[in-house]
Amino acid sequence: MISPIRSGHLGSHSVTAKIARKRHYLLCRPHHFAVEYAINPWMDASADVDTARAVSQWETLVGTLRRLGHTVDTLDPEPGLPDMVYAANGAFSVDGVVYGARFRYPQRQAEAAAHEKWYRATGWRFAPPTETNEGEGDFAYVPGPGLVLAGYGYRTDPRGHAEAAEALSRPVISLKLVDDRFYHLDTALTVLDDETIAYYPGAFSTGSQTILRRLFPGALLADEADAVAFGLNSVSDDHHVVLNSEAAGMAEKLAARGYTPVPVDLSELKRGGGSVKCCIAELRAAA
Ligand code: ARG
Repeated sequence: MISPIRSGHLGSHSVTAKIARKRHYLLCRPHHFAVEYAINPWMDASADVDTARAVSQWETLVGTLRRLGHTVDTLDPEPGLPDMVYAANGAFSVDGVVYGARFRYPQRQAEAAAHEKWYRATGWRFAPPTETNEGEGDFAYVPGPGLVLAGYGYRTDPRGHAEAAEALSRPVISLKLVDDRFYHLDTALTVLDDETIAYYPGAFSTGSQTILRRLFPGALLADEADAVAFGLNSVSDDHHVVLNSEAAGMAEKLAARGYTPVPVDLSELKRGGGSVKCCIAELRAAA
């Protein structure tokens, strides 16, 4: 099913063969999904949420990941934790080490223990946090340079960046988020392959935009419409990029770079302020 594709020279970027790499993911069924409180601008606690629809969209996402050849594990959903479907926030793993989360808002704090229990039971080396950080929501790993990119400004405390650097023995680049619609790094930036990222510059402070330009001159730049459609809240296996089906413009930009966009409708889960990436924690085992 996963086949490398070869493309020619498209636009101003030379497009090389994209080879998919098998991934291991952790997700959590939105069995108790609801919007009962509002901790980001996308959440409207007065609107009704269709939990059954959220579950069926999530099942399509899981089916898509498996069809692409990836391993999907699931965490048991717990009553009283309506945001638990956003499994990316529960931890961040690199090279078999898992840096645990510590949520900013009390409504989500109990999720951290559920993640910790799962990682410990499945044999990962778990580094418990003392600083506030929302896991892979605010941390991204770029395998080529071995860098961690980390967001702050809304959720994760910059002290959590320093703690992650120590726990994971990786350099961490702190990036300041300045637009509250993009309150987690994974709403504004995504890693497409070992060396390539895509991001929406407007979500970042001027200094952080300059850092990103210096580190990633070949990055795919998304626009505001792409970001608002959660087009950056995507998951790539180096070839296929699974993204929200509303993000048609982003899908075009990815295709022009030789990636294969794989759209999935997660409109119901967007009502909690998240999409594809928020629902997926990538498990990076020791090399
Ligand atoms: N309602 C959740 C919150 O505000 C959404 C989390 C989305 N997760 C993410 N990785 N961006 O915390």
